[in-house]
Amino acid sequence: MADLWQNAMDYAVAIARKAGEVVRDALRDDMKVMTKSSSVDLVTQTDQKVEQLIIQSVKEKFPTHRFIGEESVAAGEACDLTDSPTWIIDPIDGTTNFVHAFPFVAVSIGFSVNKQSEFGVVYSCLEDKMFTARRGKGAFCNGEPLKVSDQEDIKQSIIATEFGSSREPEAVDKIFSSLRNILCIPVHGVRGAGSAAINMCLVASGCVEAYYEIGIHIWDVAAGSLIVSEAGGVLMDVEGGVVDLMSRRIVAANRRAIAERIVKEIDSFSPPRDDTPPSKQ
Ligand code: IPD
Repeated sequence: MADLWQNAMDYAVAIARKAGEVVRDALRDDMKVMTKSSSVDLVTQTDQKVEQLIIQSVKEKFPTHRFIGEESVAAGEACDLTDSPTWIIDPIDGTTNFVHAFPFVAVSIGFSVNKQSEFGVVYSCLEDKMFTARRGKGAFCNGEPLKVSDQEDIKQSIIATEFGSSREPEAVDKIFSSLRNILCIPVHGVRGAGSAAINMCLVASGCVEAYYEIGIHIWDVAAGSLIVSEAGGVLMDVEGGVVDLMSRRIVAANRRAIAERIVKEIDSFSPPRDDTPPSKQ
């Protein structure tokens, strides 16, 4: 079975590269920008086209596998993670960046079996960086091994986060309150690439010590989570404890003590879970 998943991962890398070409080409075209949950939650025809390209390619080789895809869920499909082999796809992570040609845009493909992540592929397609991780086998960028930062002091750290796509005043207040608490630790700086997947790869690469966000979805972080843990990092819920990829909350850090310090400063809240159908939210 192990070889089968290695084959699946090699296939995912090839598809992500092909998807990245489509994304790069689309940057030169006129874009039709549409919205989803709010006027700042953007989607383009390229997001939909790339998701279909990935799903169709996987179905040809692995016809029994299941999918959780950002745009399929937006179109009404269930967001169910079962024990079956499941590809968890964000065709363009950083759609707002893509629309504005802000240069951090990723194709993100996670793969899970028995609800355990087996591999993760994040292709930062404008930087041409292919991040990969296979469970138990380490994390890599363009074939070079990745390792999280060895910084122990949060005051000597850069923390990544995002403002997300909610403009509900209560959520925005909490996001700013957490940001204020973290800045005033004080830390060296706060950054955000505009793509959850790329932020997680920055943690894995040792460029930032941690990343946290409330409001992400499973497809934003499924691949990046394995890349962080295989690079030696830790994952945590924003209130501490085990991360739940359906909960839309995550802290990823180079070490447990830094994650725990961030948790202390977060003014947490709970957006509707990914696995709760809209009719029950
Ligand atoms: C978004 C990006 C963004 C994060 C949002 C995500 P999308 O994903 O990862 O950085 O702040 O929470 O939804 O919509 O571009 O795939």
